[in-house]
Amino acid sequence: MRHAVHVRGLRVHTASGTQLVDDVSFTLDEAERVALVGASGSGKSLTAAAVLGTLPVTLNASGAISVCGCDVLPGRLPRSRAGVAAVHQDPSTALNPLLRVGDQLGLVLRAHGTRASVASSAAAALLDEVGFDDPDALLWRYPAELSGGQRQRVCLAIALACRPRLLIADEPTTALDLDTQEQVLDAIERVRQRHGTALMLITHDRRVATTRTDRAIRMAQGRLVDEAADAEG
Ligand SMILES: Nc1ncnc2c1ncn2[C@@H]1O[C@H](COP(=O)(O)OP(=O)(O)OP(=O)(O)O)[C@@H](O)[C@H]1O
Ligand SMILES: [Mg+2]
Repeated sequence: MRHAVHVRGLRVHTASGTQLVDDVSFTLDEAERVALVGASGSGKSLTAAAVLGTLPVTLNASGAISVCGCDVLPGRLPRSRAGVAAVHQDPSTALNPLLRVGDQLGLVLRAHGTRASVASSAAAALLDEVGFDDPDALLWRYPAELSGGQRQRVCLAIALACRPRLLIADEPTTALDLDTQEQVLDAIERVRQRHGTALMLITHDRRVATTRTDRAIRMAQGRLVDEAADAEG
């Protein structure tokens, strides 16, 4: 089976030499769902950022990462063209407050090769995929006019516009109430199944890890400590 992502000996450290991620190796197969778990500060988000190519410029990374069989440098080149996209914890800061939803989706779609003449219908189709009943009306709304769960589903639609082979979701529902959490996780699962996307789900919620992924990998103090087959713990 082809790998969605293959990480070998990933290290992230500060300019002064403090090791934040230490010799981390793991593989996600195509369409596999894996939870990345571990205590706060254990290095989950930095590991995700190294795979995504969004590490802060103040940090250094080394090791080997391949995405869908292509080698990429760990660190700072955004990976959306390599097939990786992300949804983050706080959808209100992930969206541009000054741009309508349709314009934000249109920018990403056009950057990934969609013609301007069909960008609007493609944006509406993505909003439909993430569960909006009236996608055409939503295109005209600003982020401030949406609920947290709606904003997070817009972020998911934007991530899908990159046609990712791997979706990284870093605590995507922490800021949401329980019902809305389920709605967002359902939307992620639906689009993941439809497109065969691999999922790396960072979560502190054991129930979410167990019910929404196939296995868990655990970090502690920058290292991988074990791999549990059934996402326990
Ligand atoms: N830009 C940075 N410069 C220096 N240290 C950093 C930077 N970003 C994160 N760290 C440190 O690296 C360690 C790992 O951080 P990381 O954000 O990956 O943790 P995490 O496992 O995602 O935690 P949480 O569950 O709270 O989100 C922490 O000790 C954090 O303080
Ligand atoms: Mg984090």
